[in-house]
Amino acid sequence: MRVAVVLRAFEVLAVLAVTGVRALFSRRRPELLTDAVIRLGPAFLKVAQLLSTRVDVVPLEVCRALARVHDDLPAAPVSLALRRFPPRLRDEIVTVEPIAAGSIATVYRAELRDGRHVAVKVRRPGIGRVVERDLALLAALARLAESMRLLGGMPVVNVVSEIADAVRQQLDFDAEALALRELSTNLAALPGVRVPEVAEELCGPGVLVMEHLPGLRGGTVSPEAKRAATLTALRAVYQMIFLDGLVHCDLHPGNLYPMPDGSAVIVDAGFCRRTTGTGRNAFVEFFYRMTRGDGAACAEVVLATATAGERFDPEGFRTEMIELVESATRDSIADFALVPFTVRLFAAQREHGLTADPAFVFPILSLVVLEGTLREVCPDVDFQAEALPFVLRGMMT
Ligand SMILES: Nc1ncnc2c1ncn2[C@@H]1O[C@H](COP(=O)(O)OP(=O)(O)O)[C@@H](O)[C@H]1O
Ligand SMILES: [Mg+2]
Repeated sequence: MRVAVVLRAFEVLAVLAVTGVRALFSRRRPELLTDAVIRLGPAFLKVAQLLSTRVDVVPLEVCRALARVHDDLPAAPVSLALRRFPPRLRDEIVTVEPIAAGSIATVYRAELRDGRHVAVKVRRPGIGRVVERDLALLAALARLAESMRLLGGMPVVNVVSEIADAVRQQLDFDAEALALRELSTNLAALPGVRVPEVAEELCGPGVLVMEHLPGLRGGTVSPEAKRAATLTALRAVYQMIFLDGLVHCDLHPGNLYPMPDGSAVIVDAGFCRRTTGTGRNAFVEFFYRMTRGDGAACAEVVLATATAGERFDPEGFRTEMIELVESATRDSIADFALVPFTVRLFAAQREHGLTADPAFVFPILSLVVLEGTLREVCPDVDFQAEALPFVLRGMMT
């Protein structure tokens, strides 16, 4: 592994050097960055996509450039995929065709003898080794960057290791199947949300089989239906955050589909996070205090959960938190935007020597990912009023 990592380091350096030289003579720098990431392969691509949501540590312009890294690749041929299907599934297949291909998996639609249509998500062969090698390299680079303070005081090693965990989690199809089943159970009582049922008896190593939900792509959905579906998705996320403790952190438009009847389909549980009871309670408390405009109480919640570092300055943090919550309360509903609020919330923690608790970071990130769609489809949404019923129920549990 060591030798492979060192050889790979040279390859990565070469790509970065070429990109650097081209950037000197180009005005299309964001495109060059995304091209380089795609060329570097699946681990870098996934890391870039995950980093693009980390508005808590990465500057917003860089997040926006990284968010454009697309995960569209040629599908692995059906013949190859069929060989990886477990025998029980292979015996049942009547027809099979690819419907989507990302860097980690290809998804096929298959018709079974009993007339069922299933979606079969197949992990790309050999992907585990490639990804582990690149994650080892990234961890080494992170240690180097942190020891040389190349990125200021940013906790590079921590952030890279959190993101590496999220990438590994996307390779773990057993965990994904489990998360899908839990999401489906948790959201069953919320009207208008659908999560595909897992066909457990047909799954195998690196092969996740679930009910195929038709019409996700290419259908026409009226603006009213889109609006209803997006609001339902927001409520689903609030339920995950404030009540269930299993949060889907990747609800971008490729994983969240509005349907013509106004319902919302959620797929791809590859990046879910569990929050502990105490983490969830703290977040409930924080959100409740925020809706009340009580910045001082918000500050206490953060101070009790975050980790204090070298330049810990609780008084400075309290003052800034009070100001931030006051300005959020002053904003009209349409002006309150989660991304700038979040950027300021996390910047205030960093500036005053605090590292946010992950149980606090991921719920906010799941909302940040959804916010792009919300702004587009229902710009007048009242984040705080929508949250309140879930927050109040969360306080009682
Ligand atoms: N159960 C399903 N029914 C229909 N289409 C699906 C289903 N699951 C996934 N897809 C389609 O396949 C695409 C890729 O699946 P996804 O689980 O998101 O994989 P990835 O982890 O590569 O993003 C989705 O964006 C969706 O369009
Ligand atoms: Mg997806």
